Amino acid sequence: MTATSLRYPGLGHGLGLRVDHYEAILAEPAPIDWLEIVTENYLVPGGRPLDYLERFRARYPLVMHGVSLSIGGTDPLDRAYLRDLRDLADRVQPAWISDHLCWTAVDGIQLHDLLPLPYTEEAVAHVAARVGQVQDVLGRRLVLENVSSYVGYHASQMPEWEFLAAVAEAADCLILLDLNNVHVSAVNHGFDPLSYLAGLPGARIQQFHLAGHTPAGTLLIDTHDAAIADPVWTLYAEAVRRFGAVSALIERDDAMPPLPDLLAELAIARTIARQVAAGRAA
Ligand SMILES: [Fe+2]
Repeated sequence: MTATSLRYPGLGHGLGLRVDHYEAILAEPAPIDWLEIVTENYLVPGGRPLDYLERFRARYPLVMHGVSLSIGGTDPLDRAYLRDLRDLADRVQPAWISDHLCWTAVDGIQLHDLLPLPYTEEAVAHVAARVGQVQDVLGRRLVLENVSSYVGYHASQMPEWEFLAAVAEAADCLILLDLNNVHVSAVNHGFDPLSYLAGLPGARIQQFHLAGHTPAGTLLIDTHDAAIADPVWTLYAEAVRRFGAVSALIERDDAMPPLPDLLAELAIARTIARQVAAGRAA
């Protein structure tokens, strides 16, 4: 297998599907190349969520994005959740399936937060083994996203990007690179976001996330409740320059604006990607 064949085929510029925009997106064809769903919202036996999902699936390629896999946790992987994940994938045939490089539960208690891991060799091996189990159930490569963080561990032995790269290589999985999370964590921990990009294996970058954040004193908080900030657009241009035309998605979860506002951000992303591609070609 060549390095470039690791990625699933690209989808262009997409939008995170949220209930607020269901009707607007269904009302008329929108300039959205694909939709990303929050997997857990559709792990139900039937009813309106799945009815809607089938209507969206008939119109757009879908990607499943989970929030409760807890791939870095120490509880055993939830086999019932993995079966539900596989059943939903059989139903909607997603272009790929993603979750977060984090832990979200301990002793069976879901913490509903995406908590960072210590960046150690032990954690690389631990996560890689669990990704292998998930990939065996799903029969495909998993895509893992970098989370934002506000604290670190004294035990960490490497920078975050080395950890992410090592997990991806050891597990033979793919990366969802959230550029807002890179920027937020770069400010919070004082690292160079360009070093982060430079440390990643390009052939494994499946997707970008673009989102907004909120300043809080000396920290940035990953709130997804604001427009995408200029430094994140700049980082997006750098990422496209480095990794090429990777599928990009706008994530908005709070202070939800009308759909046209998000379509305007999608148009900015497309323009940046086009300009960078033209510069690369020149
Ligand atoms: Fe994200």
